[in-house]
Amino acid sequence: MTRPALPTRQQAEALLLDAEAMNPGPWAAHSRFVAQAAAAIAAEHPDLDPQRAFVLGLLHDFGRRTGPNRDRHILDGYDGLSALGHHDAARIALTHSFPRQQMDDLLGAWDGTEQEWKRLATLLAGVQYTEEDRLIQLCDLLALPQGCCILEQRLVDIARRYGLPPQTLPKWEACFALKTHFDAATGNNIYRLLPGLVEMVLG
Ligand SMILES: [Fe+2]
Repeated sequence: MTRPALPTRQQAEALLLDAEAMNPGPWAAHSRFVAQAAAAIAAEHPDLDPQRAFVLGLLHDFGRRTGPNRDRHILDGYDGLSALGHHDAARIALTHSFPRQQMDDLLGAWDGTEQEWKRLATLLAGVQYTEEDRLIQLCDLLALPQGCCILEQRLVDIARRYGLPPQTLPKWEACFALKTHFDAATGNNIYRLLPGLVEMVLG
């Protein structure tokens, strides 16, 4: 039997609950807001499906279930979702941290083996990015565990936790380019589409 490349929303929520039980943490609340942001933007995008976007957002950090872990969660998420046959969600788990599609988009210390690093690099190089990859890359940066936020809030939050390695600025530029891309694609400032954003920015 061929399993669907993407689980249903109900199945995805159950998968996230199981993953959260394995490694409780703020990452799960963050994932739920990524899903909301992705669905809200997709609803205004001519080529994206909000239901798919929601599921992809919900599962992008699935690899956190094997944590506490750092960037190795990318590979663990890819492997975990691939094993379930959810190949579209697996690809998003693989690409969500790489707006420039290069390994030095990773800003922290690598917590896997050297072999795993090489495997991740090979997998990443083999992907043809779609609009869904770009959407979740952006939405990963539009959600804190407390709610949807603007890019600056999330990027500073990451910098305060992981520091500012030399490639930070070019990566940030790629992140802002993603916002410009989706602003144009939706014909709106995507910040206007995010639920609860004003409260998150202004308190
Ligand atoms: Fe994330």
